[in-house]
Amino acid sequence: MPRLAHDKLTDLVAGMLTRVGAAPEVAHQVAVDLVEANLQGHDSHGMQLVPRYVENTEKGLITPNAMAEQVGGAGSLAVWDGHMGYGQWTGRQVTAAGIAAAREHGLACFGLRNTHHLGRIGAYAEMAVEAGMIGLFFVNAVSGAPVVSPFGGTDGRMGTNPICIGIPKAPAPIILDFATSAIAVGKVKVAFNAGKPVPAGALVTHEGAPSTDAAVMYGQGPRGALLSFGGHKGYGLALVCEILAGALTGGGTNEPKNPNNRGIVNGMLGFVLDPARLAETPGFGQEVQAICDHVQASAPGRVLLPGDPERRAKAERMTQGIPLDDVTWGDLSACATRLGIAEREIRAALV
Ligand SMILES: NC(=O)c1ccc[n+]([C@@H]2O[C@H](COP(=O)([O-])OP(=O)(O)OC[C@H]3O[C@@H](n4cnc5c(N)ncnc54)[C@H](O)[C@@H]3O)[C@@H](O)[C@H]2O)c1
Repeated sequence: MPRLAHDKLTDLVAGMLTRVGAAPEVAHQVAVDLVEANLQGHDSHGMQLVPRYVENTEKGLITPNAMAEQVGGAGSLAVWDGHMGYGQWTGRQVTAAGIAAAREHGLACFGLRNTHHLGRIGAYAEMAVEAGMIGLFFVNAVSGAPVVSPFGGTDGRMGTNPICIGIPKAPAPIILDFATSAIAVGKVKVAFNAGKPVPAGALVTHEGAPSTDAAVMYGQGPRGALLSFGGHKGYGLALVCEILAGALTGGGTNEPKNPNNRGIVNGMLGFVLDPARLAETPGFGQEVQAICDHVQASAPGRVLLPGDPERRAKAERMTQGIPLDDVTWGDLSACATRLGIAEREIRAALV
């Protein structure tokens, strides 16, 4: 399996996005965030998306240098329209504004609509915790026919709708960041590309039968659906994401009268809270540490905190390189070649 150096891979992806019209600083930020997803072990949200981002830009579904525009709200509340810019650019812009508002007011709430894919939502929680803030994000995804079945249903009706919560903590923050589907749809694609099964309990066929075959979603036959995680609980959270991130922000839900042919469209409702304005200092930090120590003492060395698996993956991949399956690397290289990047430059990213 090819391994790629993160910095050279970032340059390669930035070069590709520049060739389809992104300004250098936009292309660099999107590339950094996509490579970071691979570094943190979330291959579903990294390199395998690059050809799709390129295609969506070429089709005019992404406006490469669009900034988010505040279209509503005042003070600590804001509604933003992403004007179909790259989500890694608009998402960071509105989160930075939310952090600034939380510094002033203690709590900020912001909605973002009409933005292209926001990628790994943990990126925005990391911005919040780096500023000493708690970040809470609800996201919905409208991208083609919906893929997630409601609890008790058999066909796709909702997006994979991630929820993310970041809490500052020394020496490393808590970053809880997951899709409300049993697994992210991109992980089904990764499994399909690698010819591997997906875990039991994640997929149903179009007839509602349980399946571990990724071809249920990406094969030639009629498409099945992803299940929510945790039965009715994950389904409820997915539905709430449709409402908070889709209906409340004005971006739209997976309700069928809304268009679903605009690329990968995310809506996001974010909250940023300054803990120092609510809790006692240093009591809050001490209590966070105490409860984390308490749960980890259950099985020392085996109980991880949310964010730990990603930090471990990153430590390994920074030094060993990022492993990419042959299909993903082949698709990425072919896309780069089509955009006029020389073979020598593409291969320079290989470790
Ligand atoms: N933009 C979008 O539309 C969209 C849609 C879906 C998912 N996503 C992103 O996809 C990524 C992957 O989502 P996923 O659902 O596959 O994630 P996942 O199932 O791998 O869960 C990840 C979360 O669980 C924590 N975790 C994992 N193992 C743990 C353990 N043993 N102990 C404690 N915590 C543990 C991780 O630290 C992380 O917070 C996320 O970054 C998410 O934001 C984005």
